[in-house]
Amino acid sequence: MKDIHRIGILTAGGDCPGLNAVIRAVAKTALRKYDLEVIGIEDGFLGLIQNRMRPLDNESVSNILTLGGTILGTNNKIAPRRYPMKVNGKIEFRDVTDRCMEYIAANKLDALVVIGGDGSMSIASDFVGMGVNCIGVPKTIDNDLYGTDVTFGFATAVSVATDALDRVHTTASSHHRVMVVEVMGRNAGWIALHSGIASGSDIILIPEIPFDIEVICDCVAGRSRRGRAFSIVCVAEGSRYQGGEQVVNHVDPTSPDPIRLGGIGQKVAADIETRTGIETRTITLGHIQRGGTPVAADRVLATEFGNQAIELLMAGEKSRLVVMKGRTVTHIPLQEAANKQRLIPPDHPLIAAGRNVGTCFGN
Ligand code: F6P
Repeated sequence: MKDIHRIGILTAGGDCPGLNAVIRAVAKTALRKYDLEVIGIEDGFLGLIQNRMRPLDNESVSNILTLGGTILGTNNKIAPRRYPMKVNGKIEFRDVTDRCMEYIAANKLDALVVIGGDGSMSIASDFVGMGVNCIGVPKTIDNDLYGTDVTFGFATAVSVATDALDRVHTTASSHHRVMVVEVMGRNAGWIALHSGIASGSDIILIPEIPFDIEVICDCVAGRSRRGRAFSIVCVAEGSRYQGGEQVVNHVDPTSPDPIRLGGIGQKVAADIETRTGIETRTITLGHIQRGGTPVAADRVLATEFGNQAIELLMAGEKSRLVVMKGRTVTHIPLQEAANKQRLIPPDHPLIAAGRNVGTCFGN
């Protein structure tokens, strides 16, 4: 087994509350318990491609536990296998993995801690295939990473979305309106399901259950007839009409994951207003779900995950993804999680509980 003396750490993909808490836990455990050298790689895999790295000491990771974003910077557009370069005035994509391997060797990195989502784990898998020991830490507000019951950042996003849904409740009820709140989550409805249940939303729309607009309007109109002249709709950005497509906000061809969803809330709101005659407004929460201070649960999870990443490395484990199963922090082969999404199963108990308390899921 190769001894571990010096490790690289990077944060990749979209930013997420709790990234700094993981960086702190990784660096402090590595420095204090094992006397390792810790090298921070800037802006995710872009820093590896461009050899932008800096040593992290106790001082540089102090006072960052509660900080949103990432002190290392991140990037959700670059993959070493398709790095955009200008050739004769035109952008061409080149594979620069070999260059990354040279920098890993030149910087004497014995292992990499990769904090990221499914796309980042897929890139890390490439490096694992070339003999680099990568330990993954599952990050995303979407909670859609395969192999773990929960990712850090999710609890904060749910808390922000729940707060927003609670706040629009008062306006909806005072003005007898329907309020549609669009939340993030890509192709998974975890944020919508949890914040919708936590806020008592009347209608929850998730990508895993394509909806029938008639069912939604019947629910809104039925509430109105029963003297409830307002409704709250929590809609995940990836939701779609039965037989319809997801609504794409824009396409970024430079990104390995080029589709950016958004706009379903507006469509649903317009349809509800036209069909029921009840004034309907939309709010798209967007990136405020990703920003700011992580809630306590995410700080705890991030600290457990970061610590476990180093403990795994020092126990001689190779290329593992730290995961949470039930209430236990454990690990799986990193390559298992690459390019897979964990969607909500249709028989999920929270959907059943929601239906039992009268929540409409649009079907
Ligand atoms: O994966 C996190 C996430 O916030 C998704 O919920 C959302 O679809 C996407 O990232 C937005 O990406 P960007 O920050 O590039 O707009």
